[in-house]
Amino acid sequence: MSRLESMRRRLTAQIDGINWAAAKITDIPGDVLEMGLGNGRSYDHLRQEVTDRRIWVIDRILKCHPSCVPPEPDFLEGEAEPMMQRLIDDGHKMALAHYDFGYGIKERDVEEGARLSPLIVQLMSSGGLVLSQQPLVGLTQIVGPDTIDPERYLFYRAA
Ligand SMILES: C[S@@+](CC[C@H](N)C(=O)[O-])C[C@H]1O[C@@H](n2cnc3c(N)ncnc32)[C@H](O)[C@@H]1O
Repeated sequence: MSRLESMRRRLTAQIDGINWAAAKITDIPGDVLEMGLGNGRSYDHLRQEVTDRRIWVIDRILKCHPSCVPPEPDFLEGEAEPMMQRLIDDGHKMALAHYDFGYGIKERDVEEGARLSPLIVQLMSSGGLVLSQQPLVGLTQIVGPDTIDPERYLFYRAA
């Protein structure tokens, strides 16, 4: 598979996964968390699909497309750990979280996902959903939509 085809599959999986999860959290209380603003593409899709919840966004740097800049109070600019700890300390809970941190180096990305997992667990509402391209620990893996290759995108439910 070419890198272009791989990118198309990744983007399709992201869209289908976000749509699927957004429809499933209607009864779960809490906010939404985007981990990795990047260019802002998945944040833009999240805010289109989830219009009635606060969407927190974490990234170490604000470098997104100008149309995707989050409201200032909802953007936590900094390293993941202290930003997630701040949300925990302030008592915020997430019904839906999208994990999209990463450097594109598989081993490093997997290590980071494992390291941040305990903080994600603490942030989630009971029954809340997490979507991730990296394996996470401490959450129950669930089957996502049939349109997505289960190797490509992972879905988790919080206890
Ligand atoms: C793959 S990009 C996100 C793409 C984005 N979701 C989109 O759709 O455009 C990953 C982002 O995560 C951020 N990031 C990675 N590790 C991080 C960490 N430990 N703390 C804060 N930000 C991090 C990077 O700065 C980068 O912008």
